[in-house]
Amino acid sequence: SLKGLDLLSEIARLKKERNAVILAHYYQKPEIQDLADFVGDSLDLSRKAAATDADVIAFCGVRFMAETAKILSPQKTVILPDMDAGCSLEDSCPPDQFAAFRAAHPDHIALTYINCSAAVKALSDIIVTSSSADIILQQIPKDQKIIFGPDRHLGGYLSRRLGREMLLWPGICIVHQAFSETELLKLKAEYPDAPVAAHPECPPHIVDHADLVGSTKAILDFAINSPARTILVATEPHIIHQMEKAAPDKVFIGVPGGDGNCNCNMCPYMALNTLEKLYVALRDLEPRIELDDDTMARARIPLERMLEMAG
Ligand code: 13P
Ligand code: SF4
Repeated sequence: SLKGLDLLSEIARLKKERNAVILAHYYQKPEIQDLADFVGDSLDLSRKAAATDADVIAFCGVRFMAETAKILSPQKTVILPDMDAGCSLEDSCPPDQFAAFRAAHPDHIALTYINCSAAVKALSDIIVTSSSADIILQQIPKDQKIIFGPDRHLGGYLSRRLGREMLLWPGICIVHQAFSETELLKLKAEYPDAPVAAHPECPPHIVDHADLVGSTKAILDFAINSPARTILVATEPHIIHQMEKAAPDKVFIGVPGGDGNCNCNMCPYMALNTLEKLYVALRDLEPRIELDDDTMARARIPLERMLEMAG
């Protein structure tokens, strides 16, 4: 039983013993964000995972992020507090169907959002995150045909912004899909001076009202640096923890989902990680990311292309 354990000091002790680094995404619970060595968006977390000299990476995020860490640092032990921490975008894109999609469009390259399985990465030419998609897409010759998966909202947003047609895989993030335009408009009426920051995984009826569309890191920077006192936030609300820490005198309001107060805008996969499970993972070095060498070698190519092209 974990009863009576001082989890914070036990985690600190095990971290030292294992020479582990704790990486966390902004959508993790505040207590996990607060004990992490680094909190970031998908791109910065990938960079950290590639560069760390720790022996163990304890990844507090979802499975595709921990897999990315393993692919970029294959000699490291990568642990994930709960192996069921998946992602609806990954689920929307089974590798065999994606392979068939690719095969049906042999003159297209596959530009693929990092929110997918290692097997889908292995079938891709270049991986992007929401913070790097723009700059990477601009480096691809204009006449090159592109298929983009699995997030159709990010793909559609990029297409509209850069005036570039792409064939889109029909995946969505269940969290960002849940934001209500009606609730957002009510908030805008109530706080007419408050800018809106939205993640590009949101559908067009949310993104079209946004003053800033960007990755979690871009949303955080915008919220902290905006001269406005009140900011409306259309992404997973756990990121508000970092906003409140950095700018305690401002007000950050999470945009609600359909019925005005549901929790449907919280990521159920991210929520599976807890301090207890992180402690057990550091103690047992399980659950551990294991991928076959061939998949990792093939998936590493488009991931390294991303790191290079993102600069
Ligand atoms: P970023 O942190 O890269 O913006 O990704 C958001 C997200 O939905 C991760 O699952
Ligand atoms: Fe996947 Fe959406 Fe959760 Fe991110 S927020 S892990 S995209 S389900």
